[in-house]
Amino acid sequence: MERSLVLVKPIATERGLAGAIIGRIQGAGLKLTALRMLHMDKAMAEQHYAVHKGKPFFNDLVEHITSKPVIAAVFEGEGAIERIRKLVGATDPAKAEPGTIRRDYGLDIRRNSTHASDSPENAEKEIAIFFKDKEIFR
Ligand SMILES: Nc1ncnc2c1ncn2[C@@H]1O[C@H](COP(=O)(O)OP(=O)(O)O)[C@@H](O)[C@H]1O
Ligand SMILES: [Mg+2]
Repeated sequence: MERSLVLVKPIATERGLAGAIIGRIQGAGLKLTALRMLHMDKAMAEQHYAVHKGKPFFNDLVEHITSKPVIAAVFEGEGAIERIRKLVGATDPAKAEPGTIRRDYGLDIRRNSTHASDSPENAEKEIAIFFKDKEIFR
């Protein structure tokens, strides 16, 4: 079974969209196995987005993700990573397909409402940043 880390980013948590976003993923048949609300600090954000260090948008990205609380979730299912990336849509909400989470709930490329893991390796790394093993249910 594949696992994916999903974050409802601060802009979407603040706008009361967590239920809708999580509900869409559950509605597509993925199993919610962990959930928490937290305010990420800079160190946590830099670890989560380590692959983007040095990119022009890195500081803005860290600033946004640490600005207010996020909701972190783990979903499990066959092909979970690709299925969730498809539901979430392209990075830029303006370019995301109609009916995707980012198209419907994203404001702009930085404040695109949702993070979803992009590979099994990254998913396992990201999950470990947010959850202890005993906080994930099966
Ligand atoms: N050009 C950009 N300007 C501002 N923010 C960006 C830009 N590109 C990406 N980001 C932000 O960084 C996050 C991580 O980027 P990336 O991994 O490329 O996209 P994705 O979240 O679709 O996997 C994006 O979700 C978005 O919030
Ligand atoms: Mg990415």
